[in-house]
Amino acid sequence: MKKISSQLKKFQYFYPYTVALVGARSEAQTNFMSCAWHTALSFEPPLFGVLVSKKRFTHQLISKAREFTVNFLAFQTVKLAAQMGRRSAYDMDKLKEFQVKLAPSTVIQSPVIEEAYVSFECKLAEIRAFGDHDLFAGEVLAVHEREKCFNVEGVLNVRKISPLLYLGNDFYITINPDALQHVVPD
Ligand SMILES: Cc1cc2nc3c(=O)[nH]c(=O)nc-3n(C[C@H](O)[C@H](O)[C@H](O)COP(=O)(O)O)c2cc1C
Repeated sequence: MKKISSQLKKFQYFYPYTVALVGARSEAQTNFMSCAWHTALSFEPPLFGVLVSKKRFTHQLISKAREFTVNFLAFQTVKLAAQMGRRSAYDMDKLKEFQVKLAPSTVIQSPVIEEAYVSFECKLAEIRAFGDHDLFAGEVLAVHEREKCFNVEGVLNVRKISPLLYLGNDFYITINPDALQHVVPD
């Protein structure tokens, strides 16, 4: 038996999603927020998209900066994801309060997050509205990956990194590396 609903209250059936910290620096302001709604958009050119509600402080900041960084977190940094995703820069300096360590980007002005195992430097290519969220599509100009976290083909080393996954409603989980399979069709 399957339950069928047409009145959607919470639209999160497709979770788990990996959690990234997304943010930017514009003039003297720097801020990041947790982001689960993100996606690759194109290989050539390399485009990556993040969906940010108009209500977020980060929305204004990326719009002004015309650039952003996307920083993927490991399960060990779950507390930081919860803090950056449940507190707003409208009310506090989150970077100071939660002692977020920043590192310089190489191409853009906005910093990356030191704790991330991989970060993308993105130049804003386009903003498109989709209902209550805007899609910020960025061209990926540089990737910072922590040593030995990916194989030569860019596959995550799950023995070294446990990616942080979000289930919604403040529930987080990670993967079981023993479940790894390399499956190719005959
Ligand atoms: C795990 C997690 C994932 C989230 N993903 C998104 C997202 O994809 N898009 C979004 O607009 N808000 C998302 N949020 C909510 C924002 O992170 C949250 O509203 C944050 O306080 C915004 O901060 P700001 O106002 O400083 O930008 C998420 C929150 C959590 C906890």
